[in-house]
Amino acid sequence: MGGVALADVAARFGTPTYVIDVATFRNRARALKEGLARRWPRSEVLFASKSLPALAMYELAAAEGLSIDVAGEGEIRLALNAGVDPSRLFFHGNAKTDAELRLAVDAHVGTIIVDNVDEFERLRDIAPASSPQDLLVRVLPGVTAPTHPSQETGGVTSKFGLPLDQAAALMKEIEDSPNLNLRGVHVHIGSQILDTAPFVEAVRRVAAITGQDSYDVGGGLGVRYTVDEEAPSIDKYLDEVTATAREVLPPQARLLIEPGRSLVASAGVTLYRVVSVKHTGRHFVAVDGGMADNMDVALTGQRYEAVIDGRALSEGTVQCAVVGRQCESGDKLIDGIALVTPVVGDLLVLLVTGAYSYTMANNYNGAYIPPLVFVENAECHEASRRQTFDDIVALQRLRALPLDTATWRT
Ligand code: LLP
Repeated sequence: MGGVALADVAARFGTPTYVIDVATFRNRARALKEGLARRWPRSEVLFASKSLPALAMYELAAAEGLSIDVAGEGEIRLALNAGVDPSRLFFHGNAKTDAELRLAVDAHVGTIIVDNVDEFERLRDIAPASSPQDLLVRVLPGVTAPTHPSQETGGVTSKFGLPLDQAAALMKEIEDSPNLNLRGVHVHIGSQILDTAPFVEAVRRVAAITGQDSYDVGGGLGVRYTVDEEAPSIDKYLDEVTATAREVLPPQARLLIEPGRSLVASAGVTLYRVVSVKHTGRHFVAVDGGMADNMDVALTGQRYEAVIDGRALSEGTVQCAVVGRQCESGDKLIDGIALVTPVVGDLLVLLVTGAYSYTMANNYNGAYIPPLVFVENAECHEASRRQTFDDIVALQRLRALPLDTATWRT
């Protein structure tokens, strides 16, 4: 990957390790940005930074001319730390705190996407009259996308945004607030959507709110994780979204999209070392990571492909369950896959892990967050180092109980 042997990356950085191929990201960023601009010149592509929130990613996305979607104080600070122009930030979230709204306003975050009436009322108190804050209103379009329930955000029961009638009422109130500047509407129907029809439907629904300057139609374009899966190409997605936009949106409007997964997922792999192999109820291949570094399988049932590094399929394969090391039966990485007879010490490469894996890494069973290594032009850049025991213990304190066991007994 990126001109680097993955065996060398594993030798240098250990396992598990996330590896990101920078060229793949750049190609996809350009395909989305230039592809959208060709079809709809007044447009913007926002990198949904929750998909891979690392300083080096913010830097790279900004260098590729993308704006950035941030959700929460941590992501705002990461973006600012990476040198992103605050006017290019779009601040999302359904439960933004006063402190976060104040931070966003003070840091001159370009656009805040208002989720609800409470947030609007707070913003009205916080935003200074001297420089009105640009806003979009998040609309709940009532479009159900065929994806896992935890990734579905456009149906009427979703916690995000306001139904069209409530959004329209809120927009009137914003227009009456001199320190707030309504730019338009936002909609996001979910993630890992493998069909273009729901995107088309969402654009149609949001067009019911007429006469806006900006229409942000969110992210959600799905990617191909497994051999048997088909995902729409970037061109097909852009063709259909912009064709619908031409039908239903004002021609001079600004059109925004917010891809995360479709930018970074296929740029990433995770490297694991095979720790044990046993044949019991199944042929289990256990690796030195699991749901602590990849929550997706447990959370959404995501299916992945993997390969054993440096081994040819002609050696013969065995049907395996690839499992992690965390204390849950649900800690599976792949429920069933033919691999070239894995043995202890093999390097297992899990494919298409660039989105939401590093994001949701955790310390279950004392796991350390793996490093994130960017590869490009035969060079490695350690974008994030492996977490250490010192990092974890630095947050914690003993209670300093009196060492008087007699007291404990009473
Ligand atoms: N815009 C908004 C407002 C979002 O909430 C999201 C993702 C995106 C854009 C980017 O969507 P994408 O293009 O990446 O599909 N934890 C889940 C993913 C949740 C996605 C959250 N929102 C998972 O691991 O699959």
